[in-house]
Amino acid sequence: MTNSTESTNLSERGYSPVCEIDDLQGVMPTPVEHKGKTLLICQGDSEVFAVDEICPHENRSMRYGVVRGDSIICPHHRYIFNLESGRCRRRRCAPVEVYDTEVRDDTVWVRVVGASEDEDDDGHAQH
Ligand code: FES
Repeated sequence: MTNSTESTNLSERGYSPVCEIDDLQGVMPTPVEHKGKTLLICQGDSEVFAVDEICPHENRSMRYGVVRGDSIICPHHRYIFNLESGRCRRRRCAPVEVYDTEVRDDTVWVRVVGASEDEDDDGHAQH
């Protein structure tokens, strides 16, 4: 069970619970909906990571990609993205967006900065 003080601290730091460790699917990323985005929660070798579902190569979904080590391999053209930095091994490809994660007990928490809560219904930033 998650300690309520730790949960409060994570909430105050902008984190939200998105899934349980038991929801993770080994080498397959686990898609979750959060703040208007689809994120992929990935169990890497060293820790749990969260990345945007959309591959920056051709804006296609990576939900059927494969997690290997601390990287995700896009299923479409097999570009490899580092889950910590988001960087692609192909120099000319933009990085995938990555998000901060924390695991408390068996819960995965993610911090998405500047997401839909700062936007109006049309996705425009509020000023
Ligand atoms: S769409 Fe992901 S590698 Fe091409």
